[in-house]
Amino acid sequence: MELDEQLKKTLFRVAKFYDQRKVGDVGPLGFRRSTDMMTMLACLERLLDEKIIMPNETMFLDLGCADGRVNVFLSYLVRMSVGIELDEWTFDEYGPLKLQLEEVLKQEELLLPPENIFILHGDATDERIHQAIKRETGVRFEDFDLFYTYLVMHEEFAELIEKKAKRGSVFIVYGLDKIMPTYKGFRFLKHISPMEGILAIYRKD
Ligand SMILES: C[S@@+](CC[C@H](N)C(=O)[O-])C[C@H]1O[C@@H](n2cnc3c(N)ncnc32)[C@H](O)[C@@H]1O
Repeated sequence: MELDEQLKKTLFRVAKFYDQRKVGDVGPLGFRRSTDMMTMLACLERLLDEKIIMPNETMFLDLGCADGRVNVFLSYLVRMSVGIELDEWTFDEYGPLKLQLEEVLKQEELLLPPENIFILHGDATDERIHQAIKRETGVRFEDFDLFYTYLVMHEEFAELIEKKAKRGSVFIVYGLDKIMPTYKGFRFLKHISPMEGILAIYRKD
């Protein structure tokens, strides 16, 4: 699928903005390393072609979203972009960073993120946060099509998705390279993984 020029430029700028503000690559914050957004950008056309992202249809959930960068980036493509973050101080970074980004986008006459982003504070495995998502957005856990995590807690999240998500939903794990884990109840999409050498993609049976 060919993306519109203005959207392409915007996505490039959003990726650049967040990549200039990476967290945890060095120092003690390794647990909250950030997705490399230029790599995510490089995966995008393939994810669209494979219909893993369906423009304005896909319901996206980042399990452990930190400052919400993947949510903001994908908000331009999906119908709803929801993130859950456990750490309060990390969760608090979402709003100010997004405001800074919007300033840059305005100055450069690029597209602002649509109003389909919801970032919630809590434990992604906790039923209460799923209820909170339902209250805030009207969306149930089983309505999400696409789940994402950056390696952290990937086994627990796979169990959760296996138990609660709908059949056919997709789980993307960022940060895998040579050894691909298997998760009960999922099919590994070998023909497209690891995408850009880093995204492992699974479909729920
Ligand atoms: C490595 S960061 C990735 C952030 C973001 N998804 C990205 O790719 O840039 C993982 C985040 O998951 C959060 N986290 C870990 N366990 C969690 C849980 N059970 N529920 C919600 N967030 C969690 C951590 O606090 C951390 O901020």
